Amino acid sequence: MILATPEIDPGSFTLASMMSSATLSIAAASLADVAVLSEIGRETYSDHFSAIWTPGNLSRFLERDFSESALRTTLAAPDRHSWWIATESPDRVAGFAKVNWNAIEPVTGMRGAELQKIYFRRGITGKGHGARLVNVIIEEAVARGSGLIWLDVLKTNAGAQRLYARLGFRICGEQPFAADTGEIGMFIMRRDI
Ligand SMILES: CC(C)(COP(=O)(O)OP(=O)(O)OC[C@H]1O[C@@H](n2cnc3c(N)ncnc32)[C@H](O)[C@@H]1OP(=O)(O)O)[C@@H](O)C(=O)NCCC(=O)NCCS
Repeated sequence: MILATPEIDPGSFTLASMMSSATLSIAAASLADVAVLSEIGRETYSDHFSAIWTPGNLSRFLERDFSESALRTTLAAPDRHSWWIATESPDRVAGFAKVNWNAIEPVTGMRGAELQKIYFRRGITGKGHGARLVNVIIEEAVARGSGLIWLDVLKTNAGAQRLYARLGFRICGEQPFAADTGEIGMFIMRRDI
């Protein structure tokens, strides 16, 4: 079920989403959040995916996606990219997500919202936060007129695939993806909205 569009107060940078629970709030990120995103991005990606990269390639990837300058570029283009930060009360940053708007879904070539990143800290997974965050993102995608939301996910990441399937995403294709440990492959999953 898609809930109402969240009201975002740009002044206070707090969100008010109907999906917030007593313990989790989800807020759209702005340029003021570059340092927070850089830290949580580097930490969570390393926690969950360092096993498939050599240290050198991991650090190059982290620099490319989570350096403050890289983050500033995408945060400065809110028509093309959005970031959210999820915070457990009172003020513990738990995870984040990034979406690319109007991005080409590689199987059909249709355009839609690409859920490019969604990571929670180790030890904070499995508490329902990911489902809440995805639902907030779907609300925003609907508000922006997207007809579909899609993502790619490592074939080995069965946990994330299960969550996406529960949220209505279906595998629509696959594409090659090689890490330093060898070929892993990605599934493309999509959901009409
Ligand atoms: C995937 C992820 C964002 C989901 O958020 P979450 O808050 O853990 O998810 P929820 O609590 O809403 O839902 C629980 C489901 O998430 C999945 N999940 C839980 N922990 C997970 C983990 N460490 N890695 C991957 N998926 C996980 C499982 O499907 C779980 O359902 P199950 O208990 O029936 O197996 C989060 O687990 C995470 O950050 N995982 C590591 C990074 C990752 O895989 N990101 C997605 C890349 S495509």
